[in-house]
Amino acid sequence: MEKTHARGSVGRAANRYLEGDFAPVAEEITAHDLAVTGRIPSELNGRYLRIGPNPLGVEDPAAHIWATGVGMVHGVRIRDGRAEWYRNRWVRSPGVLGALGEPAPASPVDPRAHYSPNVHVIGHAGRTFALVEAGALPYELGYELDTVGPCDLGATPDGFSANAHSKLDTKTGELHSLAYIPGMPHAQHIVTDATGVVTRATNIPMPADTPYMHDFALTENHVVLYDTPLAYDLEALIAGAGPDSAIGWNPEHPGRLGVMPRSGGPVRWSETEPAHISHTLNAYEDGTELVIDLIRADGPVDPTDPGAVHPTLDRWTVELAGGAVRRNRLDDRPQDFPRLNEAMVSRPHRYGYSAATAALHARVDEHPDESFANAIVKHDLHRGTTEVHRFATDAAVGEAVFVPDPSGGAEDDGYLMTFAHNPDRGAADLVVLAAQDFTGPPVARIHLPARVPLGLHGSWVPDA
Ligand SMILES: [Fe+2]
Repeated sequence: MEKTHARGSVGRAANRYLEGDFAPVAEEITAHDLAVTGRIPSELNGRYLRIGPNPLGVEDPAAHIWATGVGMVHGVRIRDGRAEWYRNRWVRSPGVLGALGEPAPASPVDPRAHYSPNVHVIGHAGRTFALVEAGALPYELGYELDTVGPCDLGATPDGFSANAHSKLDTKTGELHSLAYIPGMPHAQHIVTDATGVVTRATNIPMPADTPYMHDFALTENHVVLYDTPLAYDLEALIAGAGPDSAIGWNPEHPGRLGVMPRSGGPVRWSETEPAHISHTLNAYEDGTELVIDLIRADGPVDPTDPGAVHPTLDRWTVELAGGAVRRNRLDDRPQDFPRLNEAMVSRPHRYGYSAATAALHARVDEHPDESFANAIVKHDLHRGTTEVHRFATDAAVGEAVFVPDPSGGAEDDGYLMTFAHNPDRGAADLVVLAAQDFTGPPVARIHLPARVPLGLHGSWVPDA
């Protein structure tokens, strides 16, 4: 096992996002031929990748904002039933290069590339990308997670580019992005084809206080936008506040849902509840209606009291003709990070998977269903039932990614992969669950040599 860039302590923790399950790691590791408990499915060849904030050199821990930490990607390469390697690497923005004592870029760097992406990592067009939002550029990564550099994925002449929750339509091969830049009078729907070339960009007029549009929804023929009370404070931005500290909740701002044809055209806005919509599970068309399954809460997470918000899984149904919105609660237990078999993106789905993470939603373990903490949940939305795979109470677990069985046919024929802290070893395991034997023991636990801090989103990127 090789360790590089040991940085020692990041500073005395005075911030819950710098300690415990969130504590950043201080070194980059390369480890080969990882030990496994169980059996890695031999038909899986590719990489499980996940990214999150991993700050370097925090000067004022009390003032540190978790979401602004520079990005670190963690990856495990799986081939022929073996876990060939684990690597973790910072995404090398100019600031990260400087903090690591590495040479600065030879030529000036686009100011939009000063942010080290930390929200999502995806594969597209045979390449690997680390993504963020709000106008910051994507970065391309190499197969072994080294930083290639800032890149033009989804970039348009207006300064927009692909953002974190871009969605791949596996039928057309198109990657759809809903990009926004604080202060711009419009957002942009950007379509990037299977080779990585932008084929269409449609401007969408937006209110002056740009809403925080972290996610959106895609159906076979429509794009759905969320305009919520969580919006950017332009005066604060102009005064020098960073994008993440210039976001505020305006209870006077109505909640709106916008529906636009994929091919462009006017947006039909419908008023709905003034909720914070963190993530879309999926959306699809059902006759004359759109069905959108999403995670909503009464407000955004309060960093000083994450348990104060209660994100639930809801189904919003929009009448295409009149715009009326019906809202139904599918599961009232606190959960987030919804995922599904990506082949179903924008089409009718039956199954979804979400994470209940005590460290992210601190009162998860106060819910009457006491098994519902540090768990991955499988939703069967046809039957209206759930199965819960529970981890140890001190085994923090994050988003689980669905990995289809390449020879499978059913929507849930495959596996869920997630990093889970293993308290017995003081390090993380990559846990592989069989989606059709969800509450059974994991198919495999791949033992990593180090902790993986709780982070954000990730992908299974199959080898070509
Ligand atoms: Fe997200």
